[in-house]
Amino acid sequence: MPPSRTTPPGAAGQAAGGVPPAEAVAPLLRGVAVLRTLTDAGGTLSLSELERATGLARSTVDRVTGTLARMGYLRLDGRDAALSPRLMELGNSYLAALRLPGLLDGYAEELADELDESVSLAVPDGDGIRFIHQATRRRTMSLSFRIGDLLPAERTAPGPVFAADWTEAQWARWAARRDADPEDRGFPGVPPRGRDGRAPRGRDDFAGRAARARDRGWAVDDQLIEPGLIALALPVRDPDGRVVCALSVVSHTSRHSADSLPEALLPHVRATVAAMERELGEAGPSPAGYTPVGGGTPTPAGYTPVGGGTPTPAGYTPVGGGTPTPTPPAPAGLAAWTGASKQELGREFVESLARGLTVLTAFGEDREALTLAAVARATGLARATARRALITWEHLGYVAVAEGTFRLTPRVLALGFPPLSRTTLPQIATPHLAALARRVHDSASLAVLAGDDVQYTARVATSRIMSVNITLGTRFPAYATSMGRVLLAGLPDAERAARLARTELRPLTPYTLTRRRDLAKALDRVRREGYALVDEELEEGLRSIAVPVRDRDGEVVAAVNVAMHSSRRSVAECVAGVLPELRAEVARIEADLHVAGRFARIPAA
Ligand code: PHB
Repeated sequence: MPPSRTTPPGAAGQAAGGVPPAEAVAPLLRGVAVLRTLTDAGGTLSLSELERATGLARSTVDRVTGTLARMGYLRLDGRDAALSPRLMELGNSYLAALRLPGLLDGYAEELADELDESVSLAVPDGDGIRFIHQATRRRTMSLSFRIGDLLPAERTAPGPVFAADWTEAQWARWAARRDADPEDRGFPGVPPRGRDGRAPRGRDDFAGRAARARDRGWAVDDQLIEPGLIALALPVRDPDGRVVCALSVVSHTSRHSADSLPEALLPHVRATVAAMERELGEAGPSPAGYTPVGGGTPTPAGYTPVGGGTPTPAGYTPVGGGTPTPTPPAPAGLAAWTGASKQELGREFVESLARGLTVLTAFGEDREALTLAAVARATGLARATARRALITWEHLGYVAVAEGTFRLTPRVLALGFPPLSRTTLPQIATPHLAALARRVHDSASLAVLAGDDVQYTARVATSRIMSVNITLGTRFPAYATSMGRVLLAGLPDAERAARLARTELRPLTPYTLTRRRDLAKALDRVRREGYALVDEELEEGLRSIAVPVRDRDGEVVAAVNVAMHSSRRSVAECVAGVLPELRAEVARIEADLHVAGRFARIPAA
């Protein structure tokens, strides 16, 4: 039976709450420690650094990282372990269950455009605040926070907005955390509180700000994080009047003061809050909804199977390894997958860790609050296994229990989201390009359109086959390259026609297509067949084949190619041998991009 008490918010800065219960799954505790350590370190550590930072034995670090790599949650690259984008599916489960980002992101982005200032959404997390969305503008001059970053409530603008409703018990927990961690060491996302900093001095100051926030309906942060950084926050309420998140506008003392910020911006921010609250009203109470942790209703039976909407990657190739290994399927097929992995890897695969992590993916949109039975059903795990995993997660503060149902807490975002939400497509693609280049023994690259050119944004070279040296940023005329043709073919008709009309088609070799009609036909074919092969049109002796990279909406955002000397293979061999490898690897890039891009904006370049 699940315990029936409600998880106390606890000190948000701390990773775990005391001695684990006897039923806790020890390998899951270790796996979470490894993921948290990597997250706080920015995403990458050597295995020996990981050993030192976690205090785990080297053999344990090896098994845990090996299992996480098998799950696609991290990449082992020589001596380093690096978090990989697929890990974001855990945080995605929380954000999907919360519903707020999906409903409110667009309004935050519009406000950021209107004001040309950064705008964020944050939720309360214990006595801290955690960001669930960042619409970043004017990047210069200030530290900017990431989705999943946790800040001490008293050093922020949303903090007093949330603390306006705190109980005495919550104030007591906050005071205890302040005493235990006076320098904010438990908040790796913020600069430590300095003696000379503008950090608030004690409870009175924060309590006063919370009281004013209650009266006025807004609060400011006057350089409490770092000199120059100022912010204004307003509460966003659900139709029942409960505060569900805070909307902040972040500015700099070179543009505003703590007094001028509310004077100038309050009407705009209030209008956005009103629009957000209307949206929440129209969205209606979901079966699970956006209600704060601990306050919801159980999900009705008949939820959609886990994984709906997000395509499962076809496979994952660990860097440094030869053949692709199967990526974990949606949780429904988990039991078979972990069983097969165990058979293949033996002691090096920690099944209980894989199962424990997968429990989090049982949650999602319209599956916010689940019973033990529902978690077991969604994951295919035995009830006893699911129960022990949930007990472990609850102990660590990632799952809250109320009235027999479990929910994810904002802390789930601490499993990789801060560094991974800043990933770019070139970063996502690079390990895949390396795997592809290794398999086909030729160079692989990623490029985007830049004006009438293609511009290289990532590249893994095996040998130099071109007379010019290609580096990042190198441009070539789009019409004469395979990646360019893929990108041109992906444009809407009108834009494609406009580009073709204005581009001068110069013969770069005797084989370059220079008649617009021929090029238009070639692009139609690329669109039909889903790839472009360009033979000696850019440079004699050079052949390349490219396919598009599509985002979650199916838009072509980049292209990947393999380039080779024309004498290495016939055109037919290139299509028969290289194209399937290229397509398979790009499917893996897209799978990563779609997981990473579900709630974070991933730049294509
Ligand atoms: C932010 O979104 O970066 C932010 C918001 C509120 C603060 C500080 C920073 O008080």
